[in-house]
Amino acid sequence: MTTTRHTSESQNIPAGAAAPQLCVVTFGCQMNKYDSSLVEGRFRKSGYGTTSSVEDADVVIFNTCSVRDHAEERTWSWVGELKQLKKRRPDMVIGLMGCMAQRVEEEAFKRAAHIDLVAGTRQFQHLPQMVEEVRSRRADSSLSRSDERVAFTDMAAEVPVDRTGEIWTGGRQAFLAVMRGCALSCTYCVVPMTRGGVQSRSIPQLVQEARWHADQGVKVLTLLGQTVNSYGEDFSVPLEGQPRGTGRQGREGLGDLLRALQEVPGLERIRMITLHPSYATRALAEAMRDCDKVDRFLPLPAQAGSDPVLKRMKRAYNLDLYRKRADTLRSVLPDLELGSDWIVGFSGETEEDFVGSQRFLEEQQFIVNYIFKYDERPLTKAAGFPDDVPEAIKKERHQRLMETSERVQRARFEQWCGRTEQVFLEAVSPRDANILQGRSVHGLSVSIAGGEELLGTKVPVILDECTAYGFSGRLARGTASEDLACNGTEGK
Ligand code: SAH
Ligand code: SF4
Ligand code: F3S
Repeated sequence: MTTTRHTSESQNIPAGAAAPQLCVVTFGCQMNKYDSSLVEGRFRKSGYGTTSSVEDADVVIFNTCSVRDHAEERTWSWVGELKQLKKRRPDMVIGLMGCMAQRVEEEAFKRAAHIDLVAGTRQFQHLPQMVEEVRSRRADSSLSRSDERVAFTDMAAEVPVDRTGEIWTGGRQAFLAVMRGCALSCTYCVVPMTRGGVQSRSIPQLVQEARWHADQGVKVLTLLGQTVNSYGEDFSVPLEGQPRGTGRQGREGLGDLLRALQEVPGLERIRMITLHPSYATRALAEAMRDCDKVDRFLPLPAQAGSDPVLKRMKRAYNLDLYRKRADTLRSVLPDLELGSDWIVGFSGETEEDFVGSQRFLEEQQFIVNYIFKYDERPLTKAAGFPDDVPEAIKKERHQRLMETSERVQRARFEQWCGRTEQVFLEAVSPRDANILQGRSVHGLSVSIAGGEELLGTKVPVILDECTAYGFSGRLARGTASEDLACNGTEGK
């Protein structure tokens, strides 16, 4: 098997032939969803159609995740399902991309012999050409099965994104990866290995892509990065006399990007996932304050509520530092809501450490929490620590932290109940065509009765009732006092 880089864009699809079909099956986080949309765009430019059915597809690409073992097992089980289909339709091309693909590289071919190609996390832009390469190798009868396969997993410095000529089919919401990779090294995490070091895209490039989206009807843009607020860490420091940005040492930072995106006509809301406390700065909070398109909600994972655990996780902060960062954000944005991720049962986590997580969740009043049982990942630093918390205890702590989270969420929701929030209406409820669903600027899920003409607009909504998942409300026909309350400066 050889690995070859291909640069040609055009494919040889005969005029009049039915368009070949691509099916991308996506696992993992929003970055994978974004990457899948880039891949679909590339294939469409090469003359492909897209389908959600593997049965109808000529090319199936699995966009994979490696963060926990369960994510990998689910992928292998899907891949296994295609074995019989491939026997019936040997012309199919089956590929892997994403974090697991990057982690296992060519091992994938050993685990599932019907896989034809593997593209790493910074190589997926070459997928249409890789598919053509597989096809041309198949046509060469002198090559063995293993020589037909193609793998390309180099950690290239950049993932070029060029959406010119593409037609956006994703509706009112879109993702925009502003940076990739991670410069940190949390001991439990595979991401630095699968995604590599930090690579930020320039502000003009990102504004161009945001404009392209807005021109095609996108209203809500979610900025993505493994640590999205480390955006710009890889930019060079400005020389003396040159304009200085909001990032570290005067580099351009996420605050500068927000200010630039605020000016994109047609764009209504800007969201961000996921932030790391170490890069949560006053400059970022000030940019959020000055940009009314930016949501007043941030996912700022704490992961644990015990200093010894945070130290073993190598999270690069202790609880006091986290508090300081959160206080800085809240001093500029008093109505800011925070969400968090948590790992329970990390190596050496005692009952006392765990209770610390419950306390910290309550103290910081996180309104949304994603809770995971620690899962030892190959080649991470923590894989060398004893994974000494029994599964039954992990399960029990998971349950207890969920209960804490539900209690805190209920209390926060009750504080919001009865108030008026600005809500961006995003979708019609799948269960009732007369109900519209949306999210408030503080990240609350809200549904109201209303017709499709309101979709894609931001409206003031009185939050009448809260459920376990969000709110039901009704349109408030904007008065000056309601607008004031919408900005979250009153009534809390
Ligand atoms: N970059 C983000 C998180 C990316 S991974 C951050 O630093 O916060 C998404 C979430 O998966 C993490 O926040 C963490 O809670 C969880 N996670 C990562 N590795 C894990 C592991 N080995 N076991 C269990 N959960 C894990
Ligand atoms: Fe993983 Fe830590 Fe980087 Fe997040 S900050 S991606 S948890 S290494
Ligand atoms: Fe998974 Fe990679 Fe995202 S490991 S969570 S797909 S960054």
